[in-house]
Amino acid sequence: MENWPIGIFDSGVGGLTVVREIKRMLPRAPIIYFGDTARTPYGIKSRKTLIRYAIEDADFLISKGARIIVIACHSAASTATAELRRYLDLPVFEVVSPSVTQACAITRNGRIGIMGTRATVASGVYPELIPAKLPSATVVQQACPLLVPLVEEGWLKRRETRMIVKGYLRPLKNQGVDTLVLGCTHYPLLKPIITAKAGRKIRVVDPSEEVAKSVREFILGMGGEMDFHRETSSTGEKRDRFYLSDLAPHTAEIVKRFLGEQVVLEEVIV
Ligand code: DGL
Repeated sequence: MENWPIGIFDSGVGGLTVVREIKRMLPRAPIIYFGDTARTPYGIKSRKTLIRYAIEDADFLISKGARIIVIACHSAASTATAELRRYLDLPVFEVVSPSVTQACAITRNGRIGIMGTRATVASGVYPELIPAKLPSATVVQQACPLLVPLVEEGWLKRRETRMIVKGYLRPLKNQGVDTLVLGCTHYPLLKPIITAKAGRKIRVVDPSEEVAKSVREFILGMGGEMDFHRETSSTGEKRDRFYLSDLAPHTAEIVKRFLGEQVVLEEVIV
């Protein structure tokens, strides 16, 4: 049976929310992660730069043995997916399209809210893909640039964070959205605050779960119970690998917050 090491990349540590979900759904799958911490944030970069970074990030993962690429970064997925698919000869998964499918499936009034970085909002990918699937839908977008630094600082329960989330949600609620896509790697960590402030009438789509489901479906479809044994160490434990392009003194602590566990981090130049 074939072996499919999963290469996952992001602008930094946020993509570990996707790693966490993939590990939950496919505990034995070997994971190779690349976080471009030296060039983060991607959320304010131009399309041209994001395409270049996405290609370099994917090339790096392939050089380490990845056979599937997962674009965990929403800013990169929103702007560079088509170019990356054209460039690569491997299956490419990303966080946007499975979230579009889920949002269209669960909305009742067709009003779908998107929270994301400036790059994701500027890409226009959601206003393009959602009506293509659900022509009656209306998409309301909100860039939320303050949320990434708040999450990285660990301000997950602070009053200030609650106030800022409330402010970002106000225009979405005023537009009557009943479904909300957490369109950034960092927002799943704010899910308790976002769902509380959104209220019971709004359903939340977590793209880290949606992309993990599509990767699982693909892998199971390719070979049922996959043979991941070749990726295991002599102790029988598989070893996931985590590469970052910059390792600052506080990085390990942030990684633990996102992943829920301590892992070995390797610094690389890409
Ligand atoms: N990973 C980015 C995203 O999901 C957020 C952080 C950044 O701006 O680089 O869009």
